[in-house]
Amino acid sequence: MLDECELPEQRNDGYMNLPLTLRTQVSDSVPEHLDAVGWGALEGLVTARPGLELDLAWCEQRRFKAKPGETLIAPGDEGRVDVVLGLGEAMRFGTAKLRRAAGEFARSTGGAKTVALDLTGITSLGVGAAEAVQAAIEGFWGARYRFARYHVGDPDPLESLTIIVAGDDVSSAERGLERGRVIADAVWLARDLSNEPAGALTPVQLAEVASEVAKSEGLAATILDEEGIEQARLGGLLGVAAGSAQPPRLIKLVYEPPAARARKRPDGSIPTVALVGKGITFDSGGLSLKTLDNMMTMKTDKSGAADVIATLGACRALGVGVRVVGLAPATENMPGGKAVKPGDVLEIRNGKTIEVLNTDCEGRLVLADGLSLAVEEGPDAIVDLATLTGACTVALGSKIAGLMGNDDRLVSALQAASARAGEATWPLPLPEAYRSDIDSDVADMKNMSKRGAGALTAGLLLKEFVADRPWAHLDIAGPSRSDEDAGEYRKGATGFGVRTLLEFLIAYEPLSSPAAGAAGGKVIP
Ligand code: BES
Ligand code: MN
Ligand code: ZN
Repeated sequence: MLDECELPEQRNDGYMNLPLTLRTQVSDSVPEHLDAVGWGALEGLVTARPGLELDLAWCEQRRFKAKPGETLIAPGDEGRVDVVLGLGEAMRFGTAKLRRAAGEFARSTGGAKTVALDLTGITSLGVGAAEAVQAAIEGFWGARYRFARYHVGDPDPLESLTIIVAGDDVSSAERGLERGRVIADAVWLARDLSNEPAGALTPVQLAEVASEVAKSEGLAATILDEEGIEQARLGGLLGVAAGSAQPPRLIKLVYEPPAARARKRPDGSIPTVALVGKGITFDSGGLSLKTLDNMMTMKTDKSGAADVIATLGACRALGVGVRVVGLAPATENMPGGKAVKPGDVLEIRNGKTIEVLNTDCEGRLVLADGLSLAVEEGPDAIVDLATLTGACTVALGSKIAGLMGNDDRLVSALQAASARAGEATWPLPLPEAYRSDIDSDVADMKNMSKRGAGALTAGLLLKEFVADRPWAHLDIAGPSRSDEDAGEYRKGATGFGVRTLLEFLIAYEPLSSPAAGAAGGKVIP
């Protein structure tokens, strides 16, 4: 047994990390007296564990083909449960498959106290030990997450999780273990915030949680209350908040890298990345009220803000080398007597005006202010995350986020980060030809368009607020929730985006020249 490290436990009494009694460790030998052990197998039923062969007839009888996400439970020695985890085809293996398999492993060993995941053969499949262990930890803890604040369930019986790797890989595996632990914990926090009912996590309470995270993780926090928001002329945020009895907040968190870690430019300056998250703690639609079905899940309309807060909270532990500014405009969208009305015009922080024709297109109104503030930080890159449009889920479904932007290199860097993180994103265009769809008769633009391409016209509106900064937009309306327990996900909020942002920040290289210009990304007229 080698080093042990503590993992976060179910947080039944708050949102902050609690140290866990559970031990997670890396070892180069299989511990004795395990309740369960898991290892991977590839299609063709070759195990990823050296020296171990599967009983092919036995597997065939049970129709186990080692497809990704498939599991086969076999009786092991001394009452131990052995779980064979499908990793799919060898040629198509990657950390995403392992993350998913580790999630299924966590799910299939629910009652076990001592479990081990054997990754000894994994590095022969072309992934490094650190990446493999990180993905396994993310998958395991992702699947083991529970939102347990409102029902008394049995506590998780797990006492120890051992990751077994070859002797040579132990030290890099330990790095992966630590990284995976921090990221899994950030994902848990994002899910907690997103899953929390709107009645229990108002904008004021969300800002309080952000301040607590700042305090424990060494971030600077600035919270603007209603008065501050008015003084800052955040007209979009004020307009959306007008219909709610709950006062809005503008949340700002800043991470400064320690000097030893800073990824300086040649001139010695430190790059800044700004993250902006949509923080609608509840989206009723406002006066353009949603239907029963559409409103049901709208407590998770704060997922973008949850992602930003959780990501900032993990920067120090992961040794991120750039300055990170997190901004989250937080408000409810409600149809109260003072609510913004169709036809009203709002003036955004940067001076541009938006005619509100559909009060349910509120995300872009608060993000317009958030992005305007982000520009004022002089960042090298701006990334926003928002549960912005149902149209994006029509286009890409519930497992893939739409990725748009005004700078090809930034978009590519995010797509690469999302691939490493195992969070699927797909690029969408920002066609100049559709800009006229949001032309208004009375203001600089209107907040809805009549024709299709709702995800793109929403993106085009956001683009008006990023000035000349390299910017990317993730529409996470689909993948911010899962409707099933599967892979590394639990039913409910997924925390989708946190892993991508953290991978992006860890690997961040300053973009050397200014934004690609007004072309709007790919080669679209
Ligand atoms: N929060 C919603 C988008 C959304 C929809 C998120 C489904 C997650 C799941 C957003 O504020 C919204 O209401 N968008 C509208 C825009 C429409 C009225 C033009 C939508 O997509 O339905
Ligand atoms: Mn809405
Ligand atoms: Zn919304």
